Amino acid sequence: MSFIEFIPLQDSHLRPDTLFISAEHSEIMNSMKPQLSFAPLAGIETELLSVLAADTQTDRGSDAKALPVLLITDEAVKAAAAAVLASGEFKAGANETLLLHAPAGLSAKRLLIVGLGKVAKIKVDGVRNAAGVAVRFVKPRGIRELALALPESEALPAAASCRAAIEGAFVGDFDPDTYRSDRTDKSIERFILAAGEGTDRAAVEAAFAEGVILGESQNFTRELVNEPGNKLTPTVLGQRAAEMAAEVGLGWEVHSTEKLHELKMGAFWSVSQGSAEPPALIVLRYEPEGVSEGPVLGLVGKAITFDSGGISLKPGENMEKMKYDMAGGATMIGAMRAIALLKPQVRVLCVVCAAENMPSGAAQKPGDVQTAMPFSADKPGKTIEIINTDAEGRLVLADGLTYARQLGATHMIDAATLTGACVVALGYYNAGAFSNDEEIWGKFNAALETSGEKFWRLPLGEEYAEMIKSEIGDIKNTGGRWGGAITAAEFLKVFVDETPWIHLDIAGLAWVEDSRPYIAKGPSGIGVRSLLEWVRKYSS
Ligand code: BES
Ligand code: MN
Ligand code: ZN
Repeated sequence: MSFIEFIPLQDSHLRPDTLFISAEHSEIMNSMKPQLSFAPLAGIETELLSVLAADTQTDRGSDAKALPVLLITDEAVKAAAAAVLASGEFKAGANETLLLHAPAGLSAKRLLIVGLGKVAKIKVDGVRNAAGVAVRFVKPRGIRELALALPESEALPAAASCRAAIEGAFVGDFDPDTYRSDRTDKSIERFILAAGEGTDRAAVEAAFAEGVILGESQNFTRELVNEPGNKLTPTVLGQRAAEMAAEVGLGWEVHSTEKLHELKMGAFWSVSQGSAEPPALIVLRYEPEGVSEGPVLGLVGKAITFDSGGISLKPGENMEKMKYDMAGGATMIGAMRAIALLKPQVRVLCVVCAAENMPSGAAQKPGDVQTAMPFSADKPGKTIEIINTDAEGRLVLADGLTYARQLGATHMIDAATLTGACVVALGYYNAGAFSNDEEIWGKFNAALETSGEKFWRLPLGEEYAEMIKSEIGDIKNTGGRWGGAITAAEFLKVFVDETPWIHLDIAGLAWVEDSRPYIAKGPSGIGVRSLLEWVRKYSS
């Protein structure tokens, strides 16, 4: 059987205002072209050369002055910055910047110093942010070209810093102003990573290439998440996924209503039934040549292209933000892009369940009972009592997880903007994670070291599973207010069975609420880098 099964998308599913989305997109698609340079820093001709600095002051007394030091050995650059560093104006705090025009002895027109904070605490993650800071420093100034010197420090291995810097530059380059008619393209045209002469070239070159793929893939996810609900319907998301898959050589299928009925996906369909937009069941497959045994990793994503809450309608305030309720699915699609291009030796399949959650005469109602997809003929689907139609993400994921298992997934990970409760628990700086298996969790946790993303593991447990037992059927789709992120995870666990699994609740992190020096307000693309790194842990 061929893994690439082309299912033509039906034109009738496309509304006129969504037909041109790809064309619009290709014009504004992030155009950053990073370059790697091993030339001496002083001779680099650029609009702006950025270098990183750390504070070496170890006295923690309140009147102790900062002692900023540049993290490079180039004497010409050090000389150019010596006076201003001695002035005490710049403390090298994290993300702090200082700009010098016409730096003496350098070919660069400007020198930007970016702080990393206390030298004892510097980490590769700081380099990622600092690169984003440099990019976001130049963008509003109309400068579209810059160089960044790879920092030299014991704490910052060259290859890891190189990859992080490229990732950070892509992250910083993204702006969400897609539909502004007065928009002028301020994206970076040329980003030079100046690695200096002494570095291990082969390692740095490989890390550079990885950084480009990860940065592009993360921004691909962010572009999808940024799209409004009227532009990015489930059908259009399917199209965008298929276009990407064809481009990078992934197998793909995009199905709709008929297939949901055929597979008896009663939970997924119940969310979709109230909307005029048909659902999309998106399947992507990565099958590296010569790998026919071993694990099959299943990536499952929630993609509610707009979540109104359905009949259990959400309050109007901030409802517009629920266009980002497809972030889990977009994360998986972006991760699949990175996987296809970085080619780990392990099979990966991806199932994204896309639907719109709307109230209408055809919508499901609280009190309804739905039957989830059966895993096999002898195992009937679980019955679900719908308590709240706004708890729809777990419904689409229930069938997505069952389908991924049916397609052969031996290890699964899902991502979803699943619960407000998770945001209450962890705020905006840690996403929630759950797992039923220590080994799979250990691999994911190790992946976080490289990705720099923050996920915090929360518990599962029998007592929580009790909270979602139904009187009329097997389970209900909400477990009440307390522990809402956990009861949602327990709901998903029912459909995972014994498969090792991780659930990622990214409700609080998929959208950056206030711009930071290294990232714009808007979609974050969280998860893409960690997923890629997790998949690699299974590479044979
Ligand atoms: N998409 C929301 C969760 C969400 C909330 C995402 C805030 C991003 C930011 C989800 O479908 C939802 O509505 N969950 C409900 C569940 C409740 C009805 C049990 C919630 O969290 O309130
Ligand atoms: Mn909801
Ligand atoms: Zn939702």
